[in-house]
Amino acid sequence: MKNIKPLIAQILPSMIELRRDIHAYPEPGFQEFETSQKVLNQLRNISDIQIRKGIAGSGIVATIGGNKIGPCIALRGDMDCLPIQEKTNKPYASKRPGYMHACGHDGHTACLVGAALVLSKIQDELKGPVKFIFQPSEEFDGGAQRMYDAGALENPKVDAIFGLHCYPGHGLELGEVAACRGSAMAGSGNFKIIIQGKGGHAAYPHNCIDPIYIGMQVGNVLQSIVSRSTNPIASLVVTVSKFHAGTATNIIPDTAILEGTFRSLKPKLLKQAARQIELLAKQTAKAFGAVAHVEIQEGYPVLINDGKSTLLFERIARRVLGEEAVKENYAPLMGCEDFAYYAEQIPGTFWFLGIRPKGMTVYPHCHHPSFDFNDDALEIGITMHCEIARNFAALWNN
Ligand code: NI
Repeated sequence: MKNIKPLIAQILPSMIELRRDIHAYPEPGFQEFETSQKVLNQLRNISDIQIRKGIAGSGIVATIGGNKIGPCIALRGDMDCLPIQEKTNKPYASKRPGYMHACGHDGHTACLVGAALVLSKIQDELKGPVKFIFQPSEEFDGGAQRMYDAGALENPKVDAIFGLHCYPGHGLELGEVAACRGSAMAGSGNFKIIIQGKGGHAAYPHNCIDPIYIGMQVGNVLQSIVSRSTNPIASLVVTVSKFHAGTATNIIPDTAILEGTFRSLKPKLLKQAARQIELLAKQTAKAFGAVAHVEIQEGYPVLINDGKSTLLFERIARRVLGEEAVKENYAPLMGCEDFAYYAEQIPGTFWFLGIRPKGMTVYPHCHHPSFDFNDDALEIGITMHCEIARNFAALWNN
């Protein structure tokens, strides 16, 4: 096998430039058309590549080695930004007010482009096709599901998919990587509870059915789902994050609205929580003579890493980055990630790329206005994408 280090060194300066260019012009979910064009401009330098663009809007699926008969691997990158006003003061900071790459998807995109450029130069080594999936809208409305529905994992059919996310905290430093075995990131759901009471004068509560008081009881009782009905060892969080009611101090309103989220690493617990939220809200309201209307909205599924592909990832990472660089038994995260949709369909591993420089104790967290992807991590991201892809066929069928 060729040493790919010099190939990566060759493209690294232009990948840093690409990353910063994407950073300066962030685009929110399903609107990543300029970003997508920047990716295409890079991929067009590759001679033997099949490109499908305009998938799920701005998505791209590019394939190299499409005629090879070995197992097919897909590498995935996300391209969308967040609705946050940037406060990094970097020279390449967002030029679009109210939007920024606060989750490192600019870095993920550059890592994937870099991998495509490098792997295209060692195509003779590949035993099977390698697919590069550039997807829109990871943050909202599940771009991954739309890519899947549009056939991103077909023609050629993908055997396993890998994706990375930069991670500044949680014990990971620059140069280190980790993949959770099994559940890696939480699945989620949202709820909205409308309590219909009977409004009136605030000095005559006995003539009213006070939806604010009842809403407070509902908010309280929902906390019993985690504390009283769930095994303390299991993971579940229920949070009421919105409570709106009332207009004036001397009026009891007709309605109160509570909204919130629930998350778990176990699909079964999500279903159970949804049922309990509805039951407890309705019964509590009923006990006070009010009616609760409950809407439950499903969010992303639990992201469950496949055992075989995760062991393969760890094996390659240890060989390439060193034993110490791979964190084992990495604790799962309660954030959500739409890579879960791919991993529901085929074996997949979603792994974390450390970006916090060694010795630095505090690095702005993802989704913070001071967050910025660390360009020093690009080389590791590109290296790991390439090494997973070129070793995949030999290890997968063993
Ligand atoms: Ni993200």
